[in-house]
Order: sequence, then C-alpha cells, then structure tokens
Amino acid sequence: MTDAITTPQMLKALESMCETIEDEKEYLSDLDGAIGDGDHGVNMAKCFREVKKKLAVTSAADVGSLFKDVGMVVLNSVGGAMGALYGTFFLKLSQESAGKSEVDLDDLVRIFQTGEQGILDIGKASLGDKTLIDTLSPAVRAIEAAEKEGKSLAGALADFEQAAKQGMESTTDMLAKMGRASRLGERTIGHQDAGATSCYFILRSLASAVSA
Ligand SMILES: Nc1ncnc2c1ncn2[C@@H]1O[C@H](COP(=O)(O)OP(=O)(O)O)[C@@H](O)[C@H]1O
Ligand SMILES: [Mg+2]
Repeated sequence: MTDAITTPQMLKALESMCETIEDEKEYLSDLDGAIGDGDHGVNMAKCFREVKKKLAVTSAADVGSLFKDVGMVVLNSVGGAMGALYGTFFLKLSQESAGKSEVDLDDLVRIFQTGEQGILDIGKASLGDKTLIDTLSPAVRAIEAAEKEGKSLAGALADFEQAAKQGMESTTDMLAKMGRASRLGERTIGHQDAGATSCYFILRSLASAVSA
C-alpha cells in the first residue's frame, strides 16, 4: 500500500468539510459580526450546502475532478469576498491533481502551494493582514517542511493542521488590512478573523482525508 489519499477518502473528507461548515455557521457569523458585517457563516453555509448536493451526485473518478466540482460550485454560489477566493483555491487544487486517482505527500505539497498562490494572486493579501492567508500560508510552509524532513503523510498532515490552527489563532492580535474589517482599524485587534477560521475548518477537513 502506498502512503497516499485515495479518491473515496478525499470525497469523505470533502463531505465532512460541508458538515463542519454547517455546524460552525453561527460561530463564523459571530466572528464576522464583531469586525465585519456578520454574514460569513451564512455565506459559507449556503455555499457548502450546494457543494454537499453536488458531491452526493458526483461522477468524479479522480481527486482532481472532485476538487473541480467543489471549485465550480463555490465560485458560482457564494456572495461576498469568499466565492472568488475559495472558488479559485479549489480550482487550483484541481489543476494540480487532474487525473490522479490518489495523491501522495509530494502531490499534496504542490497542490496546496498552487492553491495558496491562486488566492494570493487574486486577493493580494500578505501574511499578517488578518485574512485567511494567515491560516493557509503557515499550513503550506509546514507541509513543505514536513516533506523535506521525510515525515509520513499522516505526520505531515498533522503538522499542516497544527500550523493552520496556530495561524488562525494568530489573527486575534492582528490589525485588519484587507476587506471590510480594515475600515475598523485598531478596533479589529482582539478579534479572531472569520475567514482565517473558515479556512482552518476547510484545511482540517482536508487533512482528515488521510484517516477517512
Ligand atoms: N483580499 C483578501 N485576501 C484573502 N482573504 C480576504 C481578503 N479580503 C477579505 N478576506 C477574508 O474574507 C473574510 C470575510 O468574508 P465574508 O464575510 O464572507 O465577505 P465580506 O467581507 O464580503 O462580507 C475575512 O475574514 C478575510 O479573512
Ligand atoms: Mg462579511
């Protein structure tokens, strides 16, 4: 057996991602309510409900096609800043995993690097701006490092999840420089960023594929 995530395992992880976003809807909207307009959980839940429906009938036979299904639905169904950002993220993941019936650690490093770059290119946020990049970039750096150290797939994904969590938590002390929250300036300090939090839930779900 190779150390890789299969297409059925990734499908399960994506389904659990939809469940998690639904379960955390109020929490995400509360976080956004403190320094934004309070719609983040509603936006995300509405969108991932559509993703769930799509996954229930998907004919995707490889990991790339699964990510493409998710990306297309997200791009077309979310309002707010997130549709373009997360839609692009999943389409970039799909680009790097096209035709692959399973993905190993080497694949995952490239897949997540490409997803990160896609969000950076369209969102133009930098590390420390109090956005989902503060969750995503540290997670990608951690999986890169774990691969270089020769860690197992499960070990590398555990590092990825931990770094994402710490990144999410690090946004509490930051001043928002992007999006709606940036208008509040200093008042954003002391609140965890909503997008950084939804990004953590997404990455944690993806990391769980290894044990799905
Ligand atoms: N340029 C950007 N790059 C990356 N993430 C961003 C950017 N602008 C905003 N965000 C993320 O979007 C989240 C807000 O999303 P949401 O509430 O759904 O959209 P809106 O700001 O339109 O109400 C923020 O918490 C932040 O993490
Ligand atoms: Mg909002």
